[in-house]
Amino acid sequence: MPLRPPAVFIETFGCQMNEYDTELVRSILKDSGYRFTDSADTADVVLLNTCAIRENAHNKVYGHLGALKALKEDKGLVIGVLGCMAQNLKKDLLEENSLIDVLAGPDSYRALPELLEKAAAGRKGMAVDLSEYETYTDITPDRIEGVAAWIAVMRGCDNFCTFCVVPYTRGRERSRELDGVVREAEALAASGCKQVTLLGQNVNSYRDGTHDFADLLLAVAEVRGIERVRFISPHPKDFPEKLLEAVAGHPRICKHIHLPLQTGNDRILQLMDRTYTRAEYLALVDQIRTRCPEIILTTDIIAGFCSETDKEFADTEDLLREVEYHLAYIFQYSERKNTIAARKYADDVPAGVKAARVTKLVEFQRGISLKKNLEMIGKTVEVLVEGEGKRSRDQWMGRTGGNIVTVFPKTDTSLKPGSLTSVRITDATVTTLYGEAV
Ligand code: 5AD
Ligand code: SF4
Repeated sequence: MPLRPPAVFIETFGCQMNEYDTELVRSILKDSGYRFTDSADTADVVLLNTCAIRENAHNKVYGHLGALKALKEDKGLVIGVLGCMAQNLKKDLLEENSLIDVLAGPDSYRALPELLEKAAAGRKGMAVDLSEYETYTDITPDRIEGVAAWIAVMRGCDNFCTFCVVPYTRGRERSRELDGVVREAEALAASGCKQVTLLGQNVNSYRDGTHDFADLLLAVAEVRGIERVRFISPHPKDFPEKLLEAVAGHPRICKHIHLPLQTGNDRILQLMDRTYTRAEYLALVDQIRTRCPEIILTTDIIAGFCSETDKEFADTEDLLREVEYHLAYIFQYSERKNTIAARKYADDVPAGVKAARVTKLVEFQRGISLKKNLEMIGKTVEVLVEGEGKRSRDQWMGRTGGNIVTVFPKTDTSLKPGSLTSVRITDATVTTLYGEAV
């Protein structure tokens, strides 16, 4: 290790799991004496923690890599690529004039200090094998202290939805033990954290051999000082009554379920191998709403999957109309190498048609989101204050239990980030509620 510790700049792309993994990587590197900087210009090492879920995420990483070329030539920057693209980039690393010095896949972050040390001495290296066991449960993420934190409770995915690259980039499902997660939540509570979000590619498939996901949720919700527990992302196939009861019945478990649908058409659901039908999904929505009428539902949709016709696409729009989600993330289908869909089906919906379908659904959903938010006017909701409003320092910004951003004037001087307060809603837009503390 040189006298002055090398400075690392990490850029994170993609999902919350990647944000969390960046916190793990920071912790691993800190323990090996590295320090951190907030721009590539002042760094000795730049790490890109990458996402491979859709082509635009992929292209973004290539764009950023290209932008580092000059810095690498100028001052011999070490460049590392972490995360989901590491597998795909193996060939690139071996090319002589590649910009990349180090590749580390999602299960190989413990190898980073050694890989970076070798790279500083001019030797490129990679660690991309996936593990059946690695959960990093003994590593405390290097978090920015705040009101809310993530805890990864399981990693990987065994579902193999035909469109999805995650089972290949992140490997098999494995869960941490409940005790380890609870201890992490206790430590977070002791540092002032009020909200914990349990993370997993398939979070409700969690099982540690003794406990299931409902046990885990309830155990974390019982940690003193933790006011709110959330979870993402669940799969509709794993919603036993016990889990619904936990969500509906525990005051500190947020009344929000993100329930990825993907498509409202049965033939396409089957091609995607989502393991449920439209009717089964709708029955689950009914069951959730009956158990917990105040629940906020959100979803993910893919438009333009292989062979989807206009009529089949209309089934998705129709389902959005029927369910009235509070929010939907709508993506166009993006073929990913090696997935089952890439091997079995033709990506035959023209790009223009995919884009038009996305635009149509986004517009349609905006109308529903606005209607849902306007319905909140006059109601009083509980908000966890996160910080000052973006537009004005005279306002607080926080979220409802349903995860809706809420902004209100700072009239009550006793409030601070981390406070829970009641807010009466007086106005709303598609994305934001406005109100006053009561
Ligand atoms: N193309 C488009 N969207 C995808 N997603 C996953 N894989 C793809 C793909 N190949 C979306 C799904 C998933 C969300 C995290 O990303 O909707 O729920
Ligand atoms: Fe991908 Fe399906 Fe696993 Fe979610 S459940 S990560 S969409 S394979």
